[in-house]
Amino acid sequence: MMLAQCRIIEFPKIQDRRGNLTFIEENRHVPFEIKRVYYLYDVPGGESRGGHAHKQLQQVLIAVSGSFDVVLDDGFSREKITLNRPWQGLYIPQMVWREIENFSSGAVCLVLASEFYDEEDYYRNYANFLRAARGT
Ligand code: TYD
Repeated sequence: MMLAQCRIIEFPKIQDRRGNLTFIEENRHVPFEIKRVYYLYDVPGGESRGGHAHKQLQQVLIAVSGSFDVVLDDGFSREKITLNRPWQGLYIPQMVWREIENFSSGAVCLVLASEFYDEEDYYRNYANFLRAARGT
């Protein structure tokens, strides 16, 4: 089950009275080479993002500001995880359907990705994803 591979990663946190600092190193703090970084921001209240799964892509999601919920679904079970700590990331392997919702005002979702953008890597239809995930 791919859901069992999803996990929270704790990044280094350098605390300082001037403000905190977190850093992320490829292949050390995330289990893949980072080929792409993108971020979701200015998400209007009540909107959700995601609503897809990936055939190969692995990602780490980070709430660098604010908070949001991530609903994860591997075709067998579902889990909701709230991200609200800039020093934590959520690792999502391939073949996990995700929906990102309940964004707080000003939230920024930073995504580290193992591959360049490729529309061919997406399952955007849930029924098609389920069929592939369950091998039916
Ligand atoms: P999409 O992956 O559907 O966003 P979400 O994660 O909210 O589901 O991407 C939205 C649009 O942006 C879509 O037209 C593809 C484009 N896009 C890129 O061109 N490059 C990227 O790295 C990403 C993530 C999306």
